[in-house]
Order: sequence, then structure tokens, then C-alpha cells
Amino acid sequence: MRLINHKEALQQDIFDIISAATAKLGVDSYVIGGYVRDYLLQRGTPKDIDIVTVGSGIDLARKVAELLPGKPKVQVFKNFGTAMLRWNELEVEFVGARKESYRSDSRKPIVENGSLKDDQDRRDFTINALAFSLQKDNFGDLLDPFNGVEDLKQGLIRTPLDPDITYSDDPLRMLRAIRFASQLHFEIFPESLQAISQNKNRIKIVSKERVVDELNKILMSDKPSIGLSLLFKTGLLHIILPELTNLQGIEEKEGQKHKDNFWHTLEVVDNISEHTDDLWLRWAALLHDIGKAPTKRFDKKIGWTFHGHEFVGGKMVFKLFKRLRMPLNEKMKFVQKMVAMSSRPIVLAQDIVTDSAVRRLIFDAGEHVDDLMTLCEADITTKNPKKFRKYHQNFKIVRQKIVEVEERDHIRNFQPPISGEDIMKTFKLSPSREIGIIKDAIKEAILEGDIPNDYDAAYDFMLKKGKELGLKAGEVETK
Ligand code: CTP
Repeated sequence: MRLINHKEALQQDIFDIISAATAKLGVDSYVIGGYVRDYLLQRGTPKDIDIVTVGSGIDLARKVAELLPGKPKVQVFKNFGTAMLRWNELEVEFVGARKESYRSDSRKPIVENGSLKDDQDRRDFTINALAFSLQKDNFGDLLDPFNGVEDLKQGLIRTPLDPDITYSDDPLRMLRAIRFASQLHFEIFPESLQAISQNKNRIKIVSKERVVDELNKILMSDKPSIGLSLLFKTGLLHIILPELTNLQGIEEKEGQKHKDNFWHTLEVVDNISEHTDDLWLRWAALLHDIGKAPTKRFDKKIGWTFHGHEFVGGKMVFKLFKRLRMPLNEKMKFVQKMVAMSSRPIVLAQDIVTDSAVRRLIFDAGEHVDDLMTLCEADITTKNPKKFRKYHQNFKIVRQKIVEVEERDHIRNFQPPISGEDIMKTFKLSPSREIGIIKDAIKEAILEGDIPNDYDAAYDFMLKKGKELGLKAGEVETK
């Protein structure tokens, strides 16, 4: 094996200290995995460092902590034989070199101590098995038993061992392969891709949290469709997100076709990724059409319809998040809201854009109105350049109107200018349904543009409405 030296990759103090600790313990240690890969790809200097030692990872971590200024705390994971410490911005993980074999029903391996080569053999990809030596006499030498550097150059994801073994050992790696392909714009070696298809069902033993972690990383890559279409082609997506794969296909009846909503969705996700790094807005783009599968109907007069798909889709978001053990908090509600409202601006932009329609949109979308517009613009995937221009132009008008209307009417964080309390005082009412009626009427009048969004106008309107309801105002209050 030809050795190339990369001392310059190990200039941070931490590496000298690990090297010194290694010498003190009389063992060999290496930097391995993501740090080496990302350094060679010039993807910046990673904050996560993985160290493998031919000895005890826990002992080495303790020795390193002793030598480090500030003596950081070592977190020990006894069951895994690993340890971790944080120092400055860095997170350093220590593991003893292992020979591993996995049982078929679990991701938890049976572990035996091994050499560096044994450890590299059991890693996921050739590009992740690269190691820099930390021994004093060959500090910075690159150990690359599987030509990982060549694969980095060629942009190839390839397993060190037979891919069937590597994926079957740890099925999460199937998702990792696709995630790396998406992040790095790499190709998965054909045999490896085939092995993923063959082993796809093993993904079921992987915890939902790990699956979602990888899905999130795919969604956060600059062109998520690379990963998503690989998930589809290998059949993994059918297992993980059947709601999405159910959108695939074009049906024709009486000469009428609808678009393939799956491939359309992938385009929308790519589009939105050019405009936002918000993970949850990207999720919204991914799920914005999921209600179309269960609502699809053919009507002889109007052709294909997906009535109410936004509402149904919103409901499906909750179930999907729950199944995947994703957070059921305001993030989920945000995605739900985006899905449920995903057609609103389009409908609006097709007509003459009235102020009252814009006010209603701002009222319903609230603080998320800009995100909603971003989603809807990404949703324009027509290949007809005339239509493409027209829709974008219309959305531009809607966006302008949103700014104008919001400046004037302050609807975004709408607080009724007249409170229920004000109404009760004015008409000497105890809590009753009239209060709700008047409040609602005021809100409607503001959204319709019948009155401006201010106290005086709303006060007068309240008096008028009260009169209609047969209520008598007590002493008329001044502001
Ligand atoms: N690894 C593996 N199989 C896995 C997970 C990790 O073989 N299922 C090995 C790889 O050698 C990997 C290293 O452990 O490089 C560290 O894993 P991790 O920190 O999860 O990933 P990175 O490769 O560092 O990449 P990223 O930080 O982008 O996730």
C-alpha cells in the first residue's frame, strides 16, 4: 500500500494530545471516518472526530482527557465500549478497533477486539474507512486499504466487503448510502444499489429515529430528489413513506390523464430547496400532495379531481409524523398548516387579486404567510414556459399585495381591536353568545375591508351591530 502523508490535516492541538496519550498507553490510534473523508473532499473541518484505537477506546479517552487543558468530562458508553468527550468546539468519539458480526434480528453486534484492518473491513463504505495515523513515527499517513481515495475521486459509494454482508450487518447503511449519494452527488456502485433493493425489508429493524435522521439529511441536501429517487428505485421509500409512493403513476380514463404527483413532488422539493434551508418547510413540500392519493376521483364531466386533498393531507401529516416518531409539536402543526393551505395562493392568483382575499390569506396563514408563498411558488412545475411565467408573475403580484395590505391593515398577528371584555362592558352583558357574534362580525368586517383595523372604527361597528341584535349600550365610553 502506497502511503500518502496528510500531516496538514492534523494541525489542531487535539491530534497531538491524542497522539501523546496513545504513546503513553503503548497502543496505536487513528482518526477514521467522516473527518478524513470530509477533509479529503475539502468540505471544511468537521467538528466531529472519530478515533479508533487498537486497544480500549474508554482508556484512551480517559488518558486524553487527563492531558487536555481543563480536563473535560468523559462520557462512557460501557455497553458499546466507546467513550466521548467535548473539548472546545469539538466532539471526539473513541472506540476500540473491532471485529464485529451482527445477528439477523438486531442492529446490536457481537463484538470482538480486532486490528485496524478488521475495523476498516466492518465499516460502511470505502470512503468512510479511510484513516490517518496518529503514531509519532508515521503521524498523518493515510491508511486506505480499499482504494477509498479513488472512490472519492470517482464519486462512488462502495462497501468494503460484499454489499450484502455490509447492509445486512447494519441495514441503516442502506439509507446512509443514499444519503451520502444525495449530499455528495455521488453514485452508488451498481452491485451495492442492487444489494439495497434486495435487503430493503431489513430496514424495518432500524429505529424510526435513525431512519428519520437520514431522511432529514437527504431533505437537507441541495438536491433532495437525488436521494428521494434512489429511495424510490430501491423500494425503501415504499416501506418508509408509502403515502408518497402512492402518488406515483399516471392514470388515463376517457382520454384524460392526470400528472404523476410523485415525480411532481420531487421537483417541488428541489425547487423549494433553492429558496429555503428550513427543514420543516422542505417536509411540507415533500408532503404537500399526499392527500391526492386517497381523494383521487374521475368525474365524467370535469375529469380527474382531488377534492379536499389539502384537508385530508393535513390529517395524514399527523399520522405520518406519529408513525415515524417525529415531533408532534409546533413543527408538525406548521407542516400540517402548510399542507392544508397549499392551494390557497394558487386559487387566489388565478383571479383578480383582491385586497380582501389577500387579507384572508394573511389572516389564515398568520406568521407563516411568506413560507406558504415560497411553497406555492415551488409548486409551479409546468413545462409550458408561457404558463410558468404567468403563474410566477401572478405570485409576484400576490406577494406585493401582501406587503401593502399588511402595512396598512396589520393582519398577520391579528388581535381583535375590540375585546370580548369591551363588548361586555359596553352592553352590560354577562358572558353570552352575543359577544361571540359581535366579535366575529368585527373580524369579518375588517377582513372584507368594510372597516379599517383600528379601535375607533371597530367601536362604532360594535355599537351598530349591538343595536341590530337589540342590545342597548350603557354609557358610551370614550377611549
Ligand atoms: N459507520 C459505519 N456504519 C454506520 C455508521 C457509521 O460503518 N451505520 C462508520 C463509518 O466509518 C463512519 C463512522 O462510523 O464514517 C462515523 O459515523 P458517523 O459519525 O455516523 O458518520 P460520518 O461518516 O462521520 O458522517 P456524518 O457526520 O455526515 O453523518
